[in-house]
Order: sequence, then structure tokens, then C-alpha cells
Amino acid sequence: MASLEAVRLSKRYGDRVAVDDLSFVAEQGDILGLLGPNGAGKTTTIRLLTTILRPTSGSFRVAGMDGDDPAGIRRRIGVLPESSGYPNRQTGAEYLRYSARLFGRDRAGAAQIADRLLADVGLSDRAGSRISTYSRGMRQRLGIARALVNDPAVVFLDEPTLGLDPAGQLEVLTTIRQIALHRGATVVLSTHTLTEVEQLCNSLLILHHGRVRAAGTVEDVIATAGRRIGSTRLSDAFLSLTNEERP
Ligand SMILES: Nc1ncnc2c1ncn2[C@@H]1O[C@H](COP(=O)(O)OP(=O)(O)OP(=O)(O)O)[C@@H](O)[C@H]1O
Ligand SMILES: [Mg+2]
Repeated sequence: MASLEAVRLSKRYGDRVAVDDLSFVAEQGDILGLLGPNGAGKTTTIRLLTTILRPTSGSFRVAGMDGDDPAGIRRRIGVLPESSGYPNRQTGAEYLRYSARLFGRDRAGAAQIADRLLADVGLSDRAGSRISTYSRGMRQRLGIARALVNDPAVVFLDEPTLGLDPAGQLEVLTTIRQIALHRGATVVLSTHTLTEVEQLCNSLLILHHGRVRAAGTVEDVIATAGRRIGSTRLSDAFLSLTNEERP
């Protein structure tokens, strides 16, 4: 069974259509890249699938749970939202322990999970520092650790490498790869960094004005668009698929 499935999913805000008739499938262990220009509908798609927003129409399933069971879905997913606040006065370890407790872990279990996740995202040495002293990259990695406290089957990461330096990006990408590989989780990753998609994702969804412009493996998308425009670069494929003059 697919670990993620959207069927004709749409979200409107008044006259504005943020997500338009979106259908796609992702399998367990997939790393799905969600691409599209600013305003394409990536964050709205993630909010729909994580049950923060209700769709205007259409249906979806996440980790075996139907979209009309938000509580069931939330138990099985992890989310790094587009912009998330952190309790600055807490330490990274306190924050993760607290998050694990919210998912029903006892004190000892929560401490164990926090320690393991801090090590997984390379923050063990700063576990006892207040979050207010963390750099942006450290916060992003803490946010990814937070998304993993409930051992989720599907992880949604909305621009996880935004604003990170090259070393920070690499660390986050390595962490994401491990999530898919070692945990067998499905990862949905929204990003504007095409090289990230080429390095990491085995499948790809390009949105434009809320609609799917291309879907499939990275190779397929490049080959299909590339044949038309005579290029083998993802950046050319992306631009040709999201160019207003060449729809
Ligand atoms: N709460 C809202 N009310 C009204 N319109 C909204 C709301 N949230 C998003 N939209 C609109 O929905 C469309 C899709 O927005 P969304 O945030 O999903 O794009 P995105 O692909 O995540 O963009 P970015 O790359 O800038 O993060 C945009 O036209 C946006 O203005
Ligand atoms: Mg967004």
C-alpha cells in the first residue's frame, strides 16, 4: 500500500486556488521532492497532508490512515513546518524530552529518545545549551529531530535547508537520507535548491499555480522535459515547466 496518496486534492482561499486537483502517490522509503516557484502551493500541500488545513475537495491517505482521521495521521507523521518557533529558554534536550512526553513517552523513555535524536542530528555537544544560543542551522536540525520523536512513518520537511551554509545544508541532507534509509520512513521535502533534489530525491513533484506540472522519478522528469527543450539539466526542465510564457 502506498504510504502517501492524494486524490484530486484542492484547497481554495476565496477565489484563489492554492492547490488545484493534486493527485500523487509515494511509497515507503521514498524521498519525494516538492518543487515549485514561490506561491506554487508546496506549503499548502504539506499543511493539507499534515491535517493542519482541511481540503476544499479531494481525499488523501497518509501512513495507512484516511484524511478524515487527523488524530490517527498526526500520531504517525513528523513535521518540520515552514517557519517554526522554538522555546528559546529551553535547552535542546529539554525541548525534545518534552516533545516525546507529548507523544506519551515516560520520563526515562523520553530522555533516551532525546539523547539518540540529538546524536543523530549532530547536536549532542549542545544538548544542554539554551535554544536561544543555537545558530539557524542548529535550530533546523533540532526541528528535524523534533519531527522524529514519535518514530514517524512519514516525515514532512518544508524547506529544511533554508538559510543554511553549505556545510549545514550537507549535514541536513545527510540526516534526511538516513531518515529514509535507516528508519524506512517516507520523506516529503519541499525546497528551492534543485541540486538537493538531484542528490537526495528518488521522486519529484513540480507544482505551478497549485497544479502538477511534472511528476515521476527525477530522471523521468528531466528526460521528458529535456527532450522538448534539448537539455539534460533539472534546472532547465524546472524553468521550462514553470515559465509563464511556456506553459
Ligand atoms: N492563509 C492563506 N490565505 C490566503 N491565501 C493563502 C494562504 N496561504 C497561502 N495562500 C496562497 O496560496 C498560494 C500557495 O501558497 P503556498 O504557501 O502553499 O506556496 P509555496 O509553494 O509554499 O511558496 P514558497 O516557495 O514561497 O514557500 C499562494 O498564492 C498564497 O498566496
Ligand atoms: Mg512554502
